Amino acid sequence: MGFYDKYVLPRFINCACGTKPIMKQREKVVPLARGTVLEIGIGTGLNLPLYDASTVDRVIGLDPSEASWELAGARAAHLDFDVEFIGLPGEQIPLEDASVDTVLVTFALCTIPDPVTALKGMARVLRPGGRLVFCEHGKAPDSSVCKWQDRINPYWRRFAGGCNLNRDIPGLLEEGGFAVSELQNAYLPGTPRIAGYNYWGSAAHA
Ligand SMILES: C[S@@+](CC[C@H](N)C(=O)[O-])C[C@H]1O[C@@H](n2cnc3c(N)ncnc32)[C@H](O)[C@@H]1O
Repeated sequence: MGFYDKYVLPRFINCACGTKPIMKQREKVVPLARGTVLEIGIGTGLNLPLYDASTVDRVIGLDPSEASWELAGARAAHLDFDVEFIGLPGEQIPLEDASVDTVLVTFALCTIPDPVTALKGMARVLRPGGRLVFCEHGKAPDSSVCKWQDRINPYWRRFAGGCNLNRDIPGLLEEGGFAVSELQNAYLPGTPRIAGYNYWGSAAHA
């Protein structure tokens, strides 16, 4: 891993993903988590302070970037639930079948190289009746915006740590074995339209 990926990128992502409109999105979904939670692509732990400690027992954060996790240390300290970090990609979830109550994924399905394999793994470890809670940016509904998303994506991916602008989030959830039960979508105010079309809600086993 080069200097940019190890030192610059986690700090860049921490700032870019901590803006006010994005934090407002997190507030809509993170408090829905219950029980034992698996957070996929936890990054620098921006969601940690938003969990409801009265309903969450434990958060297992999985992310291949240990450098990001080092930045999350302060956020993980002094919480009223246990937080554990696993330094692996979402395509390799090392947990038992049906062992978590909630899977949370925010702004990571854009980046995970094989999101369908990762989602199938999330479905495997989610207990029957459990929920996948998500908030992601992705493919916009307007053809003029989509066109620019597709054009810029190859360059964007290179400097944004593999993030894709144009993924079809509901389609990926379905392909990964989930049935979306609640879905909202909108362009976030104050965010460039190519990166600002958000999908958020929850899903259960299909
Ligand atoms: C844009 S950041 C979002 C971080 C965090 N989910 C958030 O909401 O702030 C994307 C994250 O996906 C992580 N990531 C990259 N490849 C991954 C993979 N294969 N599995 C899981 N996470 C991955 C990155 O390390 C990074 O932390």
